[in-house]
Amino acid sequence: CGIIARIGQGNAAETLLSGLENLEYRGYDSAGIAVQNGSGVKVHKTSGEVSDLKSSLDSDPHGNMGIGHTRWSTHGPPTDANAHPHTDTAGDVAVVHNGVIDNYDELRTELTAKGHEFESDTDTEVIPHLIDEFREATGDTELAVRKAVDTLEGSYAIAAIVDGEEAVYAARKGSPLVLGLDDEEWFLASDVPAFLDHTEDVIYLEDGDLVVLEPDAYQISDLAGNPIERSIDTVDWDPEDAGKGEYDHYMLKEINTQPTALSNTIEGRIEDGDVAFESLPPGTFADVDSVQFVACGTSYHAAMYGGQLVREAGVRAEVLRASEYESTAGPVDETTLVVAVTQSGETADTLDAVRKAADRGARTLAVTNVVGSTAAREADDAVYIRAGPEVGVAATKTYSSQAVTLALLSQRLAGDVPDAAPVADRAAMLEALEDLPQHVETVLETSTAESLAEETLDSESFFFIGNGRGRSVALEGALKFKEITYEHAEGFAAGELKHGPLALVTEATPVFAVATGGADDKTKTNAIEAQSRGAPIVAIGPDDHPLVDIADAHLSVPDTHPVWTGLLANVQLQLLSYHAADQLDRPIDKPRNLAKSVTVE
Ligand code: G6P
Repeated sequence: CGIIARIGQGNAAETLLSGLENLEYRGYDSAGIAVQNGSGVKVHKTSGEVSDLKSSLDSDPHGNMGIGHTRWSTHGPPTDANAHPHTDTAGDVAVVHNGVIDNYDELRTELTAKGHEFESDTDTEVIPHLIDEFREATGDTELAVRKAVDTLEGSYAIAAIVDGEEAVYAARKGSPLVLGLDDEEWFLASDVPAFLDHTEDVIYLEDGDLVVLEPDAYQISDLAGNPIERSIDTVDWDPEDAGKGEYDHYMLKEINTQPTALSNTIEGRIEDGDVAFESLPPGTFADVDSVQFVACGTSYHAAMYGGQLVREAGVRAEVLRASEYESTAGPVDETTLVVAVTQSGETADTLDAVRKAADRGARTLAVTNVVGSTAAREADDAVYIRAGPEVGVAATKTYSSQAVTLALLSQRLAGDVPDAAPVADRAAMLEALEDLPQHVETVLETSTAESLAEETLDSESFFFIGNGRGRSVALEGALKFKEITYEHAEGFAAGELKHGPLALVTEATPVFAVATGGADDKTKTNAIEAQSRGAPIVAIGPDDHPLVDIADAHLSVPDTHPVWTGLLANVQLQLLSYHAADQLDRPIDKPRNLAKSVTVE
């Protein structure tokens, strides 16, 4: 979910609504705002998107301060009643919340017994009632908020307004919250893009922080009420980067700006034929014996790509789904480097995994796109992928920048870890990396993915296969395809096709075979097996690749060092998914049921 709050001169509603539009990638089941003026707290909310909320407002709600929310449902379906903000019985306290309250059931029972009336199925609704209860008891709203959050178990970022008070109250524990400071107005939001049009001066709040914003002052304190000083950071994202520009969709813009994103990822990180990481000088990993990557979704696929390269460098590495960490991770100690790969730096499953690893004594590193994110702050070290803001729910440029960052990391590990060895032709590999942005540009300019999408659109299912580094690309190709087209797509290790999935293969199931320039023999053999059952084969790889000889269709990528071939193939697959979804008229940037940053487990 995304939350925003604003206080200052002038009307708040417009700023809240545009902030919510910029946060919609965090959820778009329902949306709402509450503003406060001389005549009480006014709540406007609806199921649907922010555009539905806007069109449901007959006039601009008046008031200089307010809170807003865009929801990704956890407790209760996306109905008007379950949309935030929620209020206490009298409607004097309005609250927006991101996170999950674990003890809401018992709190609700207690509050109901005291006469509080509930209107929604959400866990959030207990919060305004609790604040109301403690206000009655203490007569002090700040103390009431403090006592209320102290009663909550679970995770939260909340913002509240109260009838008759010129203040916004907020608190965080386990869910992100950032303060934005402009000359004449203050903001609070789950993420910087919410207010990037207004200010780039921010304070990243920490767990346990409680904030009171007044029109001309703000105070941060801990849960005991002791004042806290937090430093002001400047965000270096250009507000232009956060817009859609000339493109129909954010996703298309983000695919097309990958050459720039990759140039930024690489800049200054290759020196004299070696890797140069500003925050990780040579020798950093001299005590490391093995690596565990933890990640979710697309980041997991980037981690698979990186993990493969780390193993190729002779370093033991496992790549684990963050949500499965507890049950699948091998033992860790201080010689284990646990790498959290998370573009947002806020994915709850990933944060949970890396916290568990740290508790067990592992050393931690965050590979993320967001400076100041929870992962970056909590890990022992952080490396930024520098992809710039990504808004489309389906990750594209962040995947490419993550994979490249992890490839560079693999070479730092290769240099540092005893008995490891860089790839034999490291200088050639790094030289080819400097050409990667140009090669991506070539793919973007020459791709025939749009017409191929049209030709294959009538199929029953879409299969993606690859071997070694190509397997992660195949899995990512299938994930992208299913999330935005809603068509059935699956990715397999090429050699596994014949061990079950082949039963599904017919003339109506195209098989996209990813070439990596490495060990692709299995991919070719298994593609031929599928072809002999009637499946059309699409090869994604360089023109002279053996897979192309047997394929029925071809998506071409420039010839380069084999380490990078899969990343170029991935760009072709991004375009294929995009054009297929576009031809099906899907809501590409906001696929149903998904959110870009899932901050609950
Ligand atoms: C969500 C998104 C995915 C993303 C995953 C991990 O599920 O829908 O696109 O890959 O979270 O996000 P992260 O921010 O940790 O990379």
